[in-house]
Amino acid sequence: MLDSSKKTPSIARALHAIAPPSEDRSFAQDVVLGLSSTPKRLPCKYFYDARGSALFDQITELPEYYPTRTEVALMRAHAAKMAATIGADALLVELGSGSSIKTRLLLDELERPAGYVPVDISAAHLQQAANSIAADYPGLEVMPVAADFTRGFEIPRPSTGAARSVVYFPGSTIGNFTSDRALKLLQAIAGFVGANQDERAGGLLLGFDLVKPTNVLLRAYDDAQGVTAAFNLNLLERINRELNGNFELAHFQHHAIWNAELARVELYIRSTRAQVVHVAGHPFEFAAGELMLTEYSHKYTRDSIQSLARQAGFERSTIWTDPEQLFGVGLFQLAD
Ligand code: AVJ
Repeated sequence: MLDSSKKTPSIARALHAIAPPSEDRSFAQDVVLGLSSTPKRLPCKYFYDARGSALFDQITELPEYYPTRTEVALMRAHAAKMAATIGADALLVELGSGSSIKTRLLLDELERPAGYVPVDISAAHLQQAANSIAADYPGLEVMPVAADFTRGFEIPRPSTGAARSVVYFPGSTIGNFTSDRALKLLQAIAGFVGANQDERAGGLLLGFDLVKPTNVLLRAYDDAQGVTAAFNLNLLERINRELNGNFELAHFQHHAIWNAELARVELYIRSTRAQVVHVAGHPFEFAAGELMLTEYSHKYTRDSIQSLARQAGFERSTIWTDPEQLFGVGLFQLAD
């Protein structure tokens, strides 16, 4: 238990940057750079304008898209055990939005959480999420931070102090990271939750998607109603709208493949004919059939996620999966 009368001041602790400063580019710069590259690519973080976010919400309800409902079910089934393993008086730091049912299921079970720090790049979304949690958990110190967590940021300390810090990174967002980046992020998290003079060693609660038969994976990323296709192609509409682009949507198609060697689904946009597109005043040539990469969604096994976590310094792990082995939630802890 933590003695709040203790006079040692809490040290502000930082989650260190994993993205170099050279990556601090605008939407326009990223798009021009990506369209000038060979092969062409567009960063998946730009999917989430208002329409893209609404389409993603629709994706999570699709019969083929198992991750969201499976992760919620895992939290319903095991949050009490997760909370017990985390321990009392923990500061909960969540990477990504924070209003979701998953967070609530965890908060419902944590013993005297010392505070809750939702971290999100969208300040508007964050404030809304923080307000809604604060309203429903009176007495919980909610300290939102508007930041890109790949860039590093300072984490506020709860006024009561915390026994330990735990990072919650749900949603299999880790899947968007290549293995070198995923390792860097986990190392940064390990550095942040590590023991210091004020706190005991904490941990990482991570939602990750599991490797499974190719047809199941591909259906989840190329659904019958075409919602994922609309989500992917919305990036072109966003470019048209915000960057004065002239992509003709009729001549581009959604395309999903499973890359078995690298254990990831890859999303592309395919140009169905030779064409020239203008964006922000620059011309870009597409060959017939040319593929432009828009997203990686890496899948893990128990072994591969455990070995990644161990490489990052997390020696102890507890992994929960559903009976169909669709999705996993792992609690990775540092040795005290
Ligand atoms: C939000 C990154 C977890 O990879 O499944 C869903 C995004 N892209 N369908 C995922 C996504 C297409 C999603 N993540």
